[in-house]
Amino acid sequence: MVILGIETSCDETSAAICTNGDIISNVVYTQEEHNKFGGVVPEVASREHDANIHSIVSTALYRAKLNYSDINAIAVTYGAGLLGALIVGLNYAKGLAIGLNIPFLGINHLEGHLYSNFISTSNLQYPYLCLLVTGGHTQIWEVKSVGEYVLHSNTVDDAAGEAFDKGARLLGLGYPGGPEIERISKGGDSKFYKFSIPHVKNNPLNFSFSGLKTALLYKTNEIPKGELKKNRSHLAASYQEIIIDTLLNRLKKVYNKTKINNISITGGVAANKRFREKANLLSHDLNTSIYFPPLKYCTDNAAMIAKASYQKLLNGINSHLDLEPNPNLVLNK
Ligand code: KG4
Ligand code: ZN
Repeated sequence: MVILGIETSCDETSAAICTNGDIISNVVYTQEEHNKFGGVVPEVASREHDANIHSIVSTALYRAKLNYSDINAIAVTYGAGLLGALIVGLNYAKGLAIGLNIPFLGINHLEGHLYSNFISTSNLQYPYLCLLVTGGHTQIWEVKSVGEYVLHSNTVDDAAGEAFDKGARLLGLGYPGGPEIERISKGGDSKFYKFSIPHVKNNPLNFSFSGLKTALLYKTNEIPKGELKKNRSHLAASYQEIIIDTLLNRLKKVYNKTKINNISITGGVAANKRFREKANLLSHDLNTSIYFPPLKYCTDNAAMIAKASYQKLLNGINSHLDLEPNPNLVLNK
């Protein structure tokens, strides 16, 4: 079965080809028009998706050495994400499905991230814990089996990726903030500035990141004007460290509660090398297996959407043409 995967939920236009469950090609175009605005501009994102989607799909097919007529089904993100951006991908998928007279299936973007580790490893076993860390979500899921999920932890305010993006803006760095903070942290001392792991009232498993961003703001305000640049790498390294420590603190707590020792860490923030290092140390301490997808499957991509659809399409599960995009789509708990 040849599946064309399509992902346009935010600022990546992506298409992938999955043949009998294996990813054969994955093309990702990251829109750079947003960088000058310091964040994603929804209208710009929609226009960029519209301008590029057809050539991205054609390139994915070309790299897989296939033609449009070889596609058996289409999997497309229909939420969560930016409404206009989702509409472009979903309508393109519907049009192609009608034209080729093949089924299509709407996929939840978060479900794509949950399955992204299976693209490159077959060692990850059910049940597993998935720490999902993106620009919009920070959650710990228990994936019991295909389509069966339990939510153990969620953020009560900002997501970890958002904390990186907002922190980078405070430090005068570019967008997206995660890679910028990681880059500038390299020359910095992560113990130079003291931040503490935020606690969440009523549920110690949950995350909160908005206070860290405020703490960073106070610290930058304390630094005399003109000296910020000199201290920026220490600030970035200390801020990065506390975000990572907070993520791993909650992961350890959920592990202690569930004792599930297969763990997957996915989403854009999972691309952070310091995070990967510290998670590996934790996996030794806890005697667990922690899996990270290769970097290209951490940030948004269509390969994970195609992969998440494979079992469902194989079992004959399809979407109807009246499927609407849903910017606030959630996973069942
Ligand atoms: O999964 P993703 O590509 O898109 C969403 O579904 O949101 O995640 C994007 C987020 C952004 O907030 C970005 O700053 C963060 O992932 N990110 C990183 C790194 N690369 C991307 N955060 C920390 N370190 C990185 N290397
Ligand atoms: Zn994502």
